[in-house]
Formats: sequence, C-alpha cells, structure tokens
Amino acid sequence: MQNDVSKCLISREQIAEKVVQMGQQISRDYSGRELVVVGILKGAVIFLSDLVREISIPLYIDFMAVSSYGSSTESSGVVRILNDLDMSIEGMDVLIVEDIVDTGLTLKYLMEILKNRKAASVKICTLLEKPARRKVDINIDYNGFVIPDEFVVGYGLDYNNRYRHLPGVYVLKKEVYTS
Ligand code: IMP
Ligand code: MG
Repeated sequence: MQNDVSKCLISREQIAEKVVQMGQQISRDYSGRELVVVGILKGAVIFLSDLVREISIPLYIDFMAVSSYGSSTESSGVVRILNDLDMSIEGMDVLIVEDIVDTGLTLKYLMEILKNRKAASVKICTLLEKPARRKVDINIDYNGFVIPDEFVVGYGLDYNNRYRHLPGVYVLKKEVYTS
C-alpha cells in the first residue's frame, strides 16, 4: 500500500498543529453560541474527530452522506443525499465539516439544502482545498491547507474507499487510478 503513494504532502504533525489552531479559532468565533457540527461521510470523519476535541464550546455532532464521485477521481456534478441528518437544524448555527473542496459542487449544493432548512447560519470548514479545480464560487470559512491539483489520500480521504487510515495526506500515484 505504501507503494501506491508517491509522496507525503502534509504530515500528521502538520495536520495536528493546524487542527488545534482551527479548533481554537472556531471556539472564539462561536463563543456564547451552540454549534451543530455536520460531518460529511465518510471523508471528514477523521478530521472531524480530531477537530471537535479542540473546540471548547458546547456542540452537537451529526452526519450526512452524499455521493458525488462514485469510484472515479472526477466529480460527476451530480450530488445525491444518501443519508440525511438526524437533527433538525432550524435556528441553529451549522458548521459543515468536509475533507476537501475540489470543484465545490458538493458544498454548494449542501449549503443550499441546509440554508433552506432555516439554519441561523451555515459555514464551511474543510481540511483541504484545491483552488485550481473550482467550478463554482463558494466561500470557505475555515480551511486548513491549500493544495496543488493532485489526487490525494489519507487522513480520511480515499480512492475507492481505500487509504483513509493513512495518518498524513499523500499524493496517490497516477498508475493506481489510471490502470
Ligand atoms: P467537489 O464536489 O468536486 O468539491 O468534491 C468534493 C469531494 O470529492 C470530496 O468530499 C472528496 O470526497 C472528493 N475528492 C476531491 N478531490 C479529492 C482528492 O484529491 N482525493 C480524495 N477525494 C477527493
Ligand atoms: Mg468526501
């Protein structure tokens, strides 16, 4: 499996340091309020688990599963809700936690859905963003790292549901997904 990745782009230590900063910033920004942290399955699970433990204000955790990718590395532009929230978010401050913003299609669509449910606010927190591939304009409120246009795995991010457990973020070798 280590042979499938070409280089480590972001180490687990760099991620850990960044996640502490992000958690502190979120705690300050939402001070005195109550937050619903919405994790997008499955990619955001590891990031969310580390992030919420750095947030010092009261919060709820809920999850949504959407599909935008199937098994390819290109966004289809079609976003489907596979699993919806358990909670009502009406009147709540919602923070969507995502692994990566690539074209932006997934989050653009999700933002609209969650705003329609009359949330008090909806903001976006992502570990990674790839600005080179953005297709729609979206405002990312909290971003960990800007990365170049390469397909990455690890720290929750997958290719065909593999590699999510790798502790850092790695570039996947092209031959793995073009063969
Ligand atoms: P978007 O709708 O194009 O922004 O796609 C977002 C989703 O695509 C993310 O939640 C990931 O699941 C997936 N994705 C985009 N780029 C990568 C990557 O480099 N590695 C792994 N998954 C990715
Ligand atoms: Mg994802």
